[in-house]
Amino acid sequence: MKVIADIAKMQEFGRQVRTGGLRLGLVPTMGYLHEGHLELLRRARAECDVVVASIFVNPTQFNNPDDFAHYPRDPDADAALLAEERVDVLFVPEASVVYAADASTRVSVEGLGSSLCGPGRPGHFDGVATVVAALFNMVGPDLAFFGEKDYQQLQIIRRMVRDLHFPLRVVGVANVRERDGLALSSRNARLSDEQRRVAPAIYEALHAAADSYLDGETNAASLQVAARARLAAHPSIAVEYLEIVDGDSLQSVETADDSSVIAVAAELGAVRLIDNIIFARARREREAAARLGAEASPMGVGTDA
Ligand code: PAF
Repeated sequence: MKVIADIAKMQEFGRQVRTGGLRLGLVPTMGYLHEGHLELLRRARAECDVVVASIFVNPTQFNNPDDFAHYPRDPDADAALLAEERVDVLFVPEASVVYAADASTRVSVEGLGSSLCGPGRPGHFDGVATVVAALFNMVGPDLAFFGEKDYQQLQIIRRMVRDLHFPLRVVGVANVRERDGLALSSRNARLSDEQRRVAPAIYEALHAAADSYLDGETNAASLQVAARARLAAHPSIAVEYLEIVDGDSLQSVETADDSSVIAVAAELGAVRLIDNIIFARARREREAAARLGAEASPMGVGTDA
């Protein structure tokens, strides 16, 4: 695995790959890799000739300096995992080079950042869109892979790619979960034993609502009540939002359908976790399970993050 820090060298590498007629896949990450990232890398490996993974803890997407300072980092373990996944290039640009001292350009995808996590994290999605646009320009991928766990981020990036005509395809990869349903996240490492024990209730709440939807309930308020009832038993889980939104506009809906997504953000102590279930995916999983004559696995590892 080649390690590139220099932006001009990265751009040159991307040019050579494309000139050679090969398909270049990019998996952008902030490091501290877990199974969810590995799923992105495997998908990229399956669909692309050349795979680039970037590790860049992007300062502009943290609205809390403490969160940035404490973001977990383990570059050696990350490099070993990437090599195991047969990544061709690890791209690790320096923050001082990604952002010139007088950098003054921000990419802002209006509207989509105003709901769900937006109000609680002012500026976060502008920081994400700006760095992802910069990474696209630095690497020049044909395909870029993002997890559906950060559903709002994924939609914002899709919209940015469409609106700014980036010549690439964004691939969303399904959530990867622990056996007890907790969505994988680098932040899980910061949970205490007790917080880790109760954290799966977040997914159980979403699952209860998704189940109720698949059983025929479409009233969004009733579905939210079903989800919140599960969380009520765990006062240590402070819900920031729990909403059913349209999967494209990310605006709340009154009546759920297969284009809806139920999304939650909650804090356990100082650790903020997010999760979601895409109703169309839940239906496909239930139908697939029925065909196999089995119960739909709530903990199923998505195959498509
Ligand atoms: O999802 C992440 O890890 C980050 O938001 C991303 C997309 C790498 C941009 O910094």
